[in-house]
Amino acid sequence: MTKKWWHNKIAYQIYPKSFYDSNGDGIGDIPGIISKLDYLQDLGVDIIWLSPCYQSPLADQGYDISDYYNIDPRFGTMEDMDRLIAEAKKRHMYILMDLVVNHCSDEHEWFRKACEDPDGKYGSFFYLRDKKEGELPTNWRSYFGGPAWEDLPGTNKQYLHVFHKKQPDLNWENPTLREEVYKNINWWLDKGLGGFRIDAIMNIKKAFPFRSYEPDREDGLAGIHNMLQEAKGIGEFLGEMRDRTFQKYDAFSVGEVFNEKPEEIPDFIGENGYFSSMFDFNEAICGQSPNGWYDASAVTPDDYKRACFEAQKRIGTIGFLSNIIENHDEPRGVSRYIPAGDCCNESKKMLAALNFLLRGLPFIYQGQELGMENTVFTSIEEVDDISTLDEYQVALNAGLKPEEALQAVAGHSRDNARTPMQWSDAANAGFTTGTPWLKVNPNYTSINAASQMEDPDSVRSFYKKLIALRKDPAYSETIVYGTLEPVWEDSHNLMAYYRKGEKTLLVIGNYQNMEREIVLPAMPKAVLLNNYPTLVVENGVITMRGYQVLVLEM
Ligand code: GLC
Ligand code: CA
Repeated sequence: MTKKWWHNKIAYQIYPKSFYDSNGDGIGDIPGIISKLDYLQDLGVDIIWLSPCYQSPLADQGYDISDYYNIDPRFGTMEDMDRLIAEAKKRHMYILMDLVVNHCSDEHEWFRKACEDPDGKYGSFFYLRDKKEGELPTNWRSYFGGPAWEDLPGTNKQYLHVFHKKQPDLNWENPTLREEVYKNINWWLDKGLGGFRIDAIMNIKKAFPFRSYEPDREDGLAGIHNMLQEAKGIGEFLGEMRDRTFQKYDAFSVGEVFNEKPEEIPDFIGENGYFSSMFDFNEAICGQSPNGWYDASAVTPDDYKRACFEAQKRIGTIGFLSNIIENHDEPRGVSRYIPAGDCCNESKKMLAALNFLLRGLPFIYQGQELGMENTVFTSIEEVDDISTLDEYQVALNAGLKPEEALQAVAGHSRDNARTPMQWSDAANAGFTTGTPWLKVNPNYTSINAASQMEDPDSVRSFYKKLIALRKDPAYSETIVYGTLEPVWEDSHNLMAYYRKGEKTLLVIGNYQNMEREIVLPAMPKAVLLNNYPTLVVENGVITMRGYQVLVLEM
């Protein structure tokens, strides 16, 4: 395998709106990010992925872009962005922007021009269909609820939006549109970006001709996945995009890829794949129900283990997954993957180690390094996220009472990850001197960066140890390139695996709040990491405490 500059890097996702507010308007911004670069460097981060900060009406928090060449004034200026790239470079860090090109905003100039002249150049940038009374072009349900078709203002046409109606889908079949996308990517790479995280990319290829599918809910609509699984030929677009953009710059690209077929994995992330890497969402989709969030089931330790190993086996050594326990679209991983009532520093560290040492690139989402948890919603009024609002409605439609519906969706809400970063125990968690755009998680007085930076036993200090281990020249080759082999795979509430390369490491997590004994296959040469101060070994048998995790050199 050809070695790449990004193979041994540690990535960190910033959600700009909630990271750090430098001017007291309650919204995180780019100068705020710049002022925290030293914090990230101290943690050991190399690559920073910024969720969108382009000009946007923020209908979907920036995933609805109205100008790909400008920074939204709420986040700062283009000078701020240039300064961020330069300041990162000084610290040997790379900035990734979010590439959102399945759709733009309905406030983008292209869309406005399409409304003015639907049969002209910009009309063909979108999927437009003639409007028929009492009938939609297809019965697709958008991801955020309701039909995926909306009237094109001022015309007798309708446009397709697989996400929100303020996010019209771009027509990738049109080569002129594709040229615009490549021009934009290269313009940013010329500025010195390290690369891109690529949003919702599996949606760019549609199945033609458009048709309706068997309804899957009482609304008579059918989920978008029905159409997507019939779509063929996405590789032509993705290969062209790679050749025209990322490849020329040796840029890093990580795709939000879902439902790729096993035989396509080498095309996606193998040598010269469409992307450098793609996220592993196998854990995130655990327990999902086709009926909606209200009907989802809790993820057990055994589910979590199975999901991780399944993803690892699928990819093997073809390429590198990007491993996450959470992102801006998911609840907090510690609240989701640790059984209710057991969320504590030990279990958080265990989850961190189990995830971080998998084969692939570790991504940390802001606040994950502090063990930030899901927030509490006392009313639906406190929810900002459009997806949660839709799922709340779905729960009500299914017959749940308002309090039950709130309860049922709260644990899944994307806002759990979007509450402001907890910097200190000062007012508003030290995130802003003004009023935060989204309520701070009330637990900031006990969970915050300032206190954890001083505490050698904090979750953050444990993340630093994990990062240091991955970068340690003695173990780096094994952790980055080594194979992964599950051990004791069928043992209940136990997740363990070997990483084998130049060295052999054994990672063992006792995924329960009870002790258990483990008979080691051999005496370890060294204990590289332990989330408890002590280790009890007698005659080759380890007594592991509840949620103890060990990294052993064998
Ligand atoms: C991706 C983003 C999500 C956004 C959606 C539409 O899934 O991660 O936040 O809502 O795409 O752009
Ligand atoms: Ca601000």
